[in-house]
Amino acid sequence: MKEVNIALLGFGTVGKGVYELLEKNAPLIYQKTGLYPRIKKILVRDLNKIREKNVPSNLFTLNIEEILEDDSLPVVCELIGGINPAKEYVLRSLQKGKHVITANKAILAEFGDEIWKEASQQKSYLGFEASVGGGIPIIKTLKEALIGNKIKSIVGIVNGTTNYILTRMLENNLSFKEALKEAQAKGYAEADPSLDIKGWDSAHKISILASLAFGTYISFSKVYVEGIEEIDLLDLKFAKDFGYVIKLLAFAQKDKNRLEIRVHPTLIPENHVLASVRLNYNAFYITGDFVGDILLYGLGAGKEPTASAVVSDIVSAMEYTNLKREPFIKYPSMDKSLEKFLKPIEEVEFKYYIRFSAMDKPGVLSKISGILGKYEISIASVVQIGRQKKKGSVPIVMLTHESKEKNLRKALKEIDQLEVVTAITKKIRIWD
Ligand code: NAP
Ligand code: HSE
Repeated sequence: MKEVNIALLGFGTVGKGVYELLEKNAPLIYQKTGLYPRIKKILVRDLNKIREKNVPSNLFTLNIEEILEDDSLPVVCELIGGINPAKEYVLRSLQKGKHVITANKAILAEFGDEIWKEASQQKSYLGFEASVGGGIPIIKTLKEALIGNKIKSIVGIVNGTTNYILTRMLENNLSFKEALKEAQAKGYAEADPSLDIKGWDSAHKISILASLAFGTYISFSKVYVEGIEEIDLLDLKFAKDFGYVIKLLAFAQKDKNRLEIRVHPTLIPENHVLASVRLNYNAFYITGDFVGDILLYGLGAGKEPTASAVVSDIVSAMEYTNLKREPFIKYPSMDKSLEKFLKPIEEVEFKYYIRFSAMDKPGVLSKISGILGKYEISIASVVQIGRQKKKGSVPIVMLTHESKEKNLRKALKEIDQLEVVTAITKKIRIWD
């Protein structure tokens, strides 16, 4: 039986998932491929931490050199997360001629040019299926299945934690904090959950997808990012009253030579296919010039689905080990020429949901709409929700027709200075 030895770096949610999957399904993989994946070493940082009882203790090591210097370990899976030491271990493994698999979108989005270059130079396989979309095969879809298409756009729900939080808040009245706690307990969140909540994890992922889709490297620093930390239950409910659902969406769109890469909370109509993506599910709505529209949907975070993606890369890496040939499918070009076509968010036109907090007195609405009119923002519908019994502020919710982001920003700045406006106005973009 031909075995391929694997080293895991990290034994947390994903590392344990990969171990369990191979314990169960390695014989099946052997049956399908003729190669048997065998985990031979696991790097951890604390040997005393209680590990799974059924994992032989001689697999664990604290010393990365034991893996890097061991030529009988051709495949290394980096499942530590964060930048350091993950990036160093990935680069050093590649320099040692190993095939590398990583679930780490942060290192790819922030240092992808360096990592991809090293993998190309070493003629090594660099697998990163698990870095985006959990168990959904989005990377291989873009790299292989859709390679013949000019990709026009990818719009997706690409973060399980935030989608879980928004779903639990709306459907079960959980507070933001309670819902986040649950997502952490289920192993969906990043070690630093602000990466999820503030939209950075989604930004990491969409910059990787944009680089693959458009064939040039698009650095993560170019992505416009807003997270969900300002979304209240009130907004989720008002949106629902208007027939919308709020989702954290990631966009990568290329139209002629204009490029938009952005992440922000977005209202989408309740009957849109992405509106039904709940909890830790993710989905990618992709449009290519020949394939047309396709939708990929599945579990975007969690132990088992992510392990499934890592193992798909392990099998690809084993194939290269076996054939001793260089990967045919290349990595994104290091040319950054497309970046100059990025459209600044201020120039993009959106419809908006706007929630004002204003005093409940006559003339307030006309003051607000007067300023909106001055900036050529036209109102599609408006609702003032209930009168307060005592004198105080009330929410006024508006939906607008399309207008330029820069005009809306100027208008809201002026509106927020009105005496009758009692809190910073909230705006959420609409995509329909
Ligand atoms: P995790 O549960 O926090 O596990 C990380 C593991 O790495 C832990 O076992 C930790 O050791 C170990 N570690 C940390 N620093 C180390 C060091 N210096 N040397 C050796 N080991 C070290 O994280 P995770 O959820 O498995 O995520 C791992 C990666 O997968 C991240 O890049 C994440 O973004 C990505 N990912 C996660 C998911 C998901 O659903 N969780 C999905 C897709 C991708 P200790 O056990 O001692 O703390
Ligand atoms: N923290 C990430 C998420 C893990 O919630 O989507 C999967 O990449």
